[in-house]
Amino acid sequence: MGEINITFPASSFPRRIGGVTVENPVWLAPLAGITVPSVRLFFRTLGAGLAHTEMISCAGLLHGSKKTLAMLRILDGERPVVLQLFAGDERTLLEGALIAASSSAFDAVGINMACPMPKVLKKGAGSRLLDRPEVAGAMVRSLAAAGLPVWVKTRKMPENSPIGTLAFTEMLLEAGASHVCIHGRSPRQRYGGDSDRSVILSVASAFPGMIAASGDVYSPDDVYDLLVGGCSAVFVARGSFRDPFLVPAALHRCGFPVDKSLLGADPGRRIEKLLLLGDGLAAEEGERIALLLLKRFLSGIFRGLCGASQFRRTIALATTWESMRATLVDWKVFAERGEQCD
Ligand SMILES: Cc1cc2nc3c(=O)[nH]c(=O)nc-3n(C[C@H](O)[C@H](O)[C@H](O)COP(=O)(O)O)c2cc1C
Repeated sequence: MGEINITFPASSFPRRIGGVTVENPVWLAPLAGITVPSVRLFFRTLGAGLAHTEMISCAGLLHGSKKTLAMLRILDGERPVVLQLFAGDERTLLEGALIAASSSAFDAVGINMACPMPKVLKKGAGSRLLDRPEVAGAMVRSLAAAGLPVWVKTRKMPENSPIGTLAFTEMLLEAGASHVCIHGRSPRQRYGGDSDRSVILSVASAFPGMIAASGDVYSPDDVYDLLVGGCSAVFVARGSFRDPFLVPAALHRCGFPVDKSLLGADPGRRIEKLLLLGDGLAAEEGERIALLLLKRFLSGIFRGLCGASQFRRTIALATTWESMRATLVDWKVFAERGEQCD
């Protein structure tokens, strides 16, 4: 497909998608335990056009769980942010959304109809809603009636389902959803096997501007191909663990302006960004969570530099942010010498 067919010219942004004004269509996906405020802010400063919270339990909000209420926190500079909720029925969802709306400034409410994990399915939530289209529709209608922009993240429908992905998506949009993201794996696949791009693209062509893609987004070309194929936006999920700088690389590939120092030639600048992420995480989430999350994002950044394995080992063994920080600072000096492996 030639560049002529591109339906997302960078010059058409900022643009409103699903009722939210965004600078670009490369977005941070919702990731449970990972897309905490400092991580979202980090990806926004790398250029992501929008970020999602991790999924938040409406039952937890209704029970006044301190841990769940703390998930509503949004930092200055993060927005646009989509707050993703999960519930098994429309009443719990609406009540949870109203609690969230009274204490948090987000741009849209996302309903999780995608999670395949047993503890969520047991509650009738997540991808269990693909088997309960009438409840899924009622959920969208109740939030839309409350005046909240409603986004849905769903999956490819199971093969034995009486309705297909296109019909399910159409039902959500008719019920009042402003935007739908489709993960191209069925619930049974969980996170394994391949994501079916063709099903996403065929729904996207039926509802232009309304359908974002998720699944197997690992390279700038993956993002480019999904946008050229007609998706309104692309969610970056596990690709961000492999390379936290995938977002600026993808933006560059798609013709959006980016801070060129984040594109690879300048390891020192990238490490500076990671140091800021670490400082933010340590202050916001505490040292234990900060170390866990940083180890996830740092594993991919040592590729291609001689001597990096020693730094990788030291980082993996770090038990305090202070020691990990010191290793990163050492590595910055080392990386700036620019010794490349063959
Ligand atoms: C650790 C982890 C946590 C996730 N948490 C959520 C979540 O809270 N809400 C959601 O809608 N999807 C969640 N997802 C799914 C991702 O948003 C994404 O749809 C999925 O990983 C497919 O994209 P990928 O193949 O590019 O990683 C999660 C995925 C992973 C790996």
